[in-house]
Amino acid sequence: MTVQIAPSILSADFAALGDAIAAAERGGADLIHVDVMDGHFVPNITIGPPVVKALKRVATVPLDVHLMIEEPDRYIEAFADAGAAMLSVHVEVLPHLHRTVHAIQALGAKAGVVLNPSTPVVMLADIAADVDYVLIMSVNPGFGGQTFIPHSQSKVREVRALLDRAGNRAPVEIDGGIDQHNVAQVVEAGARIIVAGSAVFHTPDPERATRELKAAANGAAASTAR
Ligand code: DX5
Ligand code: ZN
Repeated sequence: MTVQIAPSILSADFAALGDAIAAAERGGADLIHVDVMDGHFVPNITIGPPVVKALKRVATVPLDVHLMIEEPDRYIEAFADAGAAMLSVHVEVLPHLHRTVHAIQALGAKAGVVLNPSTPVVMLADIAADVDYVLIMSVNPGFGGQTFIPHSQSKVREVRALLDRAGNRAPVEIDGGIDQHNVAQVVEAGARIIVAGSAVFHTPDPERATRELKAAANGAAASTAR
């Protein structure tokens, strides 16, 4: 399976998101990662369904919407209607995760579940067969530009093994502090969707940064027979 690159527009110029998406797509972005924050689950506030709807009009690749919000059940329909092809929710806020995952799928979107750095992989044990992807946070969510937490690499490996035991080939996504220098190690561990914000948009040439990150990721995937 090839690696998908999902540039995160959190680090882009919010006054020119269309240009940012176009540049990332020219560089080979497979998905556009959209970070939704509510000021409660995480300290930051970002965007909501109307902006996702506007992004959907300009993006040619699927929108990967990461919900860092409390009570995501109240909003999944609005985000699906706005054009989210993938919707991920944090296990930390959902006592009825099974219901939420199936509700997302019933809306026609892929359902992902997200683990914070301090949340153990065992939290996924009874949902592993149902998910369309798992997102491992490799920083504490809320802000772009943070440093990759090294333990995340073994966590990717652990989640991949858990999904395999459940008979689920769903990809593992990783988000936070990924760049040209550490992308190989997370791909080697089994990550197949790579989110990158500052490593793409805090560079002079986001198109080129996307292309180079993708090449590095796929190079690492090719040298690990997984
Ligand atoms: C962090 C967000 C990330 C963020 C990643 O809470 O979920 O998607 O944009 O940014 P970088 O790649 O700069 O760590
Ligand atoms: Zn994210």
